[in-house]
Amino acid sequence: MRPLTLLAATILSTAVTAPQAASPDPAALAKSRQCFTCHAVDTTGIAPAFKDLAKKYTKDDVGMLARKLQNGGTQHWGDIAMPSARMLGKPLTDEEARALVLWVLRQ
Ligand code: HEC
Repeated sequence: MRPLTLLAATILSTAVTAPQAASPDPAALAKSRQCFTCHAVDTTGIAPAFKDLAKKYTKDDVGMLARKLQNGGTQHWGDIAMPSARMLGKPLTDEEARALVLWVLRQ
């Protein structure tokens, strides 16, 4: 199995079996994980405004977006791709990634 496939399989299986942990504080996490280096809530700079993301996506997209936070995305809003958590410093757990996405969708 390619390492990425293995990683995805691990993430999927832990997402199904992991017990619900207490959610981390997403606003504090967004600050400490550098989200505001590129994003703002109201304005689009090099990255789309969190308000625009909240308009475009629904709860059905949480899993997909959480995986993008963990593993990085492709560019489809602009010319730059969403970097992976690892590129931003350290990996995000499933709970942290989901908490961040749910927080973004509330903006
Ligand atoms: C280095 C700049 C940068 C940082 C730091 C960053 N982002 Fe992004 N993010 C982007 C860019 C650029 C996009 C748009 C990518 C695209 O075109 O799909 C994006 C897209 C997204 C998307 C939407 C993905 C999609 O497919 O539509 C979400 C959700 C998101 N970011 C959340 C976050 C969160 C939460 C953090 C903090 C953990 C964060 N970003 C940190 C640059 C950044």
